[in-house]
Amino acid sequence: MPKIIAVAMQKGGVGKTTTAVNVAAALAEMGRRVLAVDFDPQGNLTQHVGFDPDRISPTIYDALKAEVDGGRGDLRGAIYETNEGFHLVPSQPELSLIEVALINTLSRERVLAGLLGDVSADYDYVLIDCNPSLGLLVINALTAADSVLIPIQTEYLAARGALMILSTIETIRRKRLNPNLRVEGILLTMADTRAALTRDVQTAVEQQYGDGIHIYNAVIRRSVRFAESAAAGRSILAHDPRGPGANAYRAVAKEIDKGKN
Ligand SMILES: Nc1ncnc2c1ncn2[C@@H]1O[C@H](COP(=O)(O)OP(=O)(O)OP(=O)(O)O)[C@@H](O)[C@H]1O
Ligand SMILES: [Mg+2]
Repeated sequence: MPKIIAVAMQKGGVGKTTTAVNVAAALAEMGRRVLAVDFDPQGNLTQHVGFDPDRISPTIYDALKAEVDGGRGDLRGAIYETNEGFHLVPSQPELSLIEVALINTLSRERVLAGLLGDVSADYDYVLIDCNPSLGLLVINALTAADSVLIPIQTEYLAARGALMILSTIETIRRKRLNPNLRVEGILLTMADTRAALTRDVQTAVEQQYGDGIHIYNAVIRRSVRFAESAAAGRSILAHDPRGPGANAYRAVAKEIDKGKN
């Protein structure tokens, strides 16, 4: 059975795309079949694995556009191989137009779920990189997913930022869009070198959410290597395979794989 994980958080720049790329790469390194879906009009994940969102075609946009126009979208034709051992469904800027068009589409929350249903059986994991909002694209991702991985920045008060996404997850369940949606876990990202601060934030997050929500043991530290690897169009595992960033994401992937099913 494939496991579909949405990487989501309404706040921008917390490490969603970095997490989606590097967890995908780490799961692929473990021999898992992985599909990464760029579901953000910014196309950052697409760029992060070396493709140009302004030139690549077809993308997730074409598949959704066909559905919005009343036809049948084809996701299989929008799957590309990457150099990272996983497959990619890329994005392009026009995806932002779909969010508006979806409003008048039948079963507007379930369009992505329908498209993924055609291809997900070929994979062990499907990771969906969400845009920083709680709009209809994110609702589609949460409706299609089995679970949600929530990255939060390791800083004072950051813990509170997860409240909105958690309450959206609760709404998705209650409205029966996806009654079995689970929280995969909360991942602390961009932790700085002051270990005491990281521990304080870890404790605060555990106190607020630890009851019933998994908080990853692995913490992602701040490192310029991440921005470098994004600019180089490859994962941290390819860019700095023995560095602490690569190892931390390997540890997250192991925790995810251990908890599968
Ligand atoms: N652990 C880290 N240490 C230092 N920089 C990081 C780390 N993780 C990510 N970054 C950098 O921070 C920036 C934001 O990260 P990323 O794009 O993953 O966030 P995001 O949540 O996907 O953003 P958005 O909300 O815009 O989609 C990027 O330039 C990325 O390279
Ligand atoms: Mg992103």
